[in-house]
Amino acid sequence: MSFSLRLLLLTSQLCIAAFAGQQYDLPNTWTSYGFTAPISVGNPPQELDILMDWTWISAYVWTGTCYHHPNSPQKCLNPEQTYFNQSASHTFRYMPALYPSRTWDPNHFFPNEPALVNYATDYFTVGFESTNVVLQTSDFTFNLTEFAYPFAGIYGLSPVFKGDNASLQSPFYQSYRKDAWESPVVAWHFCYTGSPDLAKATCGGHDAIQTHGGINKTLVDEKEIRWYQNEVFPDVNNIDFIYDPAVLNYWAIEVESVKIGDEKQFVTSTPNNPGPAAIFDHASYGRGMPLSPAIYERLVAATEGKPVTLNKPPNNGEQAFYQVDCACIDDFPTVSYVFKGDQKEWSIVPRNYVEKIDDSTCVLNVRTVGNHAQFLGNFGETFAKDKYIIFDWEKLAVGIADIQWGNVVV
Ligand SMILES: *[C@@H]1O[C@H](CO)[C@@H](O)[C@H](O)[C@H]1NC(C)=O
Ligand SMILES: *[C@@H]1O[C@H](CO)[C@@H](O)[C@H](O)[C@H]1NC(C)=O
Ligand SMILES: *[C@@H]1O[C@H](CO)[C@@H](O)[C@H](O)[C@H]1NC(C)=O
Ligand SMILES: *[C@@H]1O[C@H](CO)[C@@H](O)[C@H](O)[C@H]1NC(C)=O
Repeated sequence: MSFSLRLLLLTSQLCIAAFAGQQYDLPNTWTSYGFTAPISVGNPPQELDILMDWTWISAYVWTGTCYHHPNSPQKCLNPEQTYFNQSASHTFRYMPALYPSRTWDPNHFFPNEPALVNYATDYFTVGFESTNVVLQTSDFTFNLTEFAYPFAGIYGLSPVFKGDNASLQSPFYQSYRKDAWESPVVAWHFCYTGSPDLAKATCGGHDAIQTHGGINKTLVDEKEIRWYQNEVFPDVNNIDFIYDPAVLNYWAIEVESVKIGDEKQFVTSTPNNPGPAAIFDHASYGRGMPLSPAIYERLVAATEGKPVTLNKPPNNGEQAFYQVDCACIDDFPTVSYVFKGDQKEWSIVPRNYVEKIDDSTCVLNVRTVGNHAQFLGNFGETFAKDKYIIFDWEKLAVGIADIQWGNVVV
């Protein structure tokens, strides 16, 4: 887009594309649920913290509608809960004729309750970009008064497949299609505690940044990005994130091989998947190093792990946990993955997969899904340490690159 055209847009279409071409680093804050980020919904904009979720298909905002009663937050929400008051937005429109309400039961937001959403349109603001998009708005039909969530909705960043109706999916992709962003790419950079960037300066002091509309060429060498074609893995909905109706839109690539140190491990797929699967998810299910149960057993043996029961385990998987000797971490093997389409090995070094619970307790932070040698792993914050994770909506590809800490940390 030329500069003069951009100026024209500035005057004629104030709300979109005013800064097309620029990218925006959305700051992320670590919580026990996943990462939250500040966005706004409506006009005038209502600022809300929203849970970033690479595995949800839309923007889902909590509203004051409870048990089908509008403006009744006290009927289902905690008094401290923040939410979007749709009545206070001049531009809010329910769209029941275009997009009928939907209910997911079960779902992974409220495992024992139905998630009923009404589709609506309103402005969704990320940084300097405000775009009118289709949103999912809550109508809770169950009691959430017990506590307040530290966020007021879900910012879905799932890929949009051929045959999906893109007009109601990820607000990033919807706004890209309305020219808000020049590039159909988001990229995630994790300033984890203990990273070479102790002050989290490369994340502006935050725990992570989700860059919208491009990649940061200081953090990574663009030539070193490896791209992997996205694939569909139906078993995600059978054994990992179970939704009804099913959701299959994930950033997901095939795992070709896994090694512990130099030792190649046997991996196979779950029954209905085309191959061993890597599902990218950095919310609470993406914590822990993804392994099959059989590879976990091998790692426990290699690190002389002892079973341990923890009050606060480092991830929410159903596998057992093992304590290891904190003094030996540097001698433990590196775990590495090769994904289909490129032979580069992506490693998780032991200091990134061992969690220090306290001064004397170190545990393997491993999460398993599936049986025995079947591999279906959630690649989230443990894998993402020292790596840049990139999603391209047009190519439907996942990019991975090593963070060049040396370029940015002195
Ligand atoms: C929501 O906004 C409307 C319009 O500004 C206002 O009348 C109403 O009191 C607000 N609802 C709550 C629960 O604050
Ligand atoms: C998407 O859904 C809307 C509402 O049902 C409809 O108007 C539009 O034509 C659909 N677009 C595609 C590409 O199917
Ligand atoms: C919701 O649950 C709380 C206890 O967590 C209870 O005090 C309250 O009465 C319940 N509200 C409704 C509408 O059932
Ligand atoms: C890229 O990251 C560096 C280091 O954090 C920062 O100084 C720079 O502003 C970033 N550039 C963009 C375009 O975001």
